[in-house]
Amino acid sequence: MEKKDINWSELGFGYIKTELRFEAVYTNGKWSKGELIESEIIQVHEGAPALHYSQECFEGLKAQTAKDGRVLLFRPEMNAKRLIKSAERILMPVVPEDLFLEAVHQTVKANYAWIPPYGSGASLYIRPMLIGVADNLGLSPAKEFIFRVFVSPVGPYYKGGGVSLISLAVSDIDRAAPNGTGSHKIGANYAGGLLATQKAKELGANEALYLDAAEKKYLEEAGSANVLVAMTNNRFVTPKSKAILPSVTRISLMQLAEQEIGLAIEERPIHLQNEIKEFIEVAACGTAAVLSPVSKIWFKNRWFNFYDNGQSVGPIMQQLYHLLTQIQKGEIEDKYKWTQEVVI
Ligand code: PLP
Ligand code: COI
Repeated sequence: MEKKDINWSELGFGYIKTELRFEAVYTNGKWSKGELIESEIIQVHEGAPALHYSQECFEGLKAQTAKDGRVLLFRPEMNAKRLIKSAERILMPVVPEDLFLEAVHQTVKANYAWIPPYGSGASLYIRPMLIGVADNLGLSPAKEFIFRVFVSPVGPYYKGGGVSLISLAVSDIDRAAPNGTGSHKIGANYAGGLLATQKAKELGANEALYLDAAEKKYLEEAGSANVLVAMTNNRFVTPKSKAILPSVTRISLMQLAEQEIGLAIEERPIHLQNEIKEFIEVAACGTAAVLSPVSKIWFKNRWFNFYDNGQSVGPIMQQLYHLLTQIQKGEIEDKYKWTQEVVI
């Protein structure tokens, strides 16, 4: 099958329409079998709870072309499970794991021509989404739901790309309350963060960084990614919080940090003011962000620089980036069995 004629290595993180997407519909208490369709447009009722009350959740994962030409997904069953949790939190019918995986496999396969080739630095971003549709007015769950999976070839999320440095700015806006929806991947969490991201960009940073909403002391996460910190004494730390998204990338990187690099991993509250002086290397991580090393953080009206005074990527983040992406692209043995092949 021919690939599309695209300058793959120039791609940013944006929407590109591909030929086919998967859709299943939930009516009268059950899911339809689902099918591949052509139109990227979803027609919904003006009273749809997805539009008014954000009864919407989504996922994000990637397919990559491996060195040997296979097409690989990274831990897609974790995305399936997280979508189930998100759906339950906002009273939506769950998408069974087998329907989720079937939809992802079918959509990737059907859009083979759009999967960036090995070595291009780009990948196929997969966006499963679940929305509450059909007429409604009062605050109650929708009566009908649509599960859709579309794909788009993408390059790096942050400008620069690959393993290049980004910066974050601590926001005075809260992302998520301690017992709110922050640990679920629901659209409502993101609309509230748009202003924080805009303000971060005005300061010259790539993205907002949030503190816990209750005490404004502990590091939570960035607007589109979790955070990781290499500290003195071989410590590799990530925030523990009920209000952050449990990132598939983060859990994988923590395991690699411990088992492949021998770091002492900790998941615990990180008191930013007290501990920032001990930060040696910092990174943002996620499906879109992959592992993006952070050169500096804006906090208390000044920049705090990390490794090499913010001038270069530190060795730990460099190594972790390579380990993760080599597994994702089938360049080294997948000893943790994280990748899943899409049979084309
Ligand atoms: N945190 C937020 C707010 C995100 O939107 C994402 C992206 O999915 C992540 C963290 C990273 O999660 P994952 O590694 O599962 O993509
Ligand atoms: C992802 O990394 O998959 C996300 O959903 C982040 C999003 C803001 C692009």
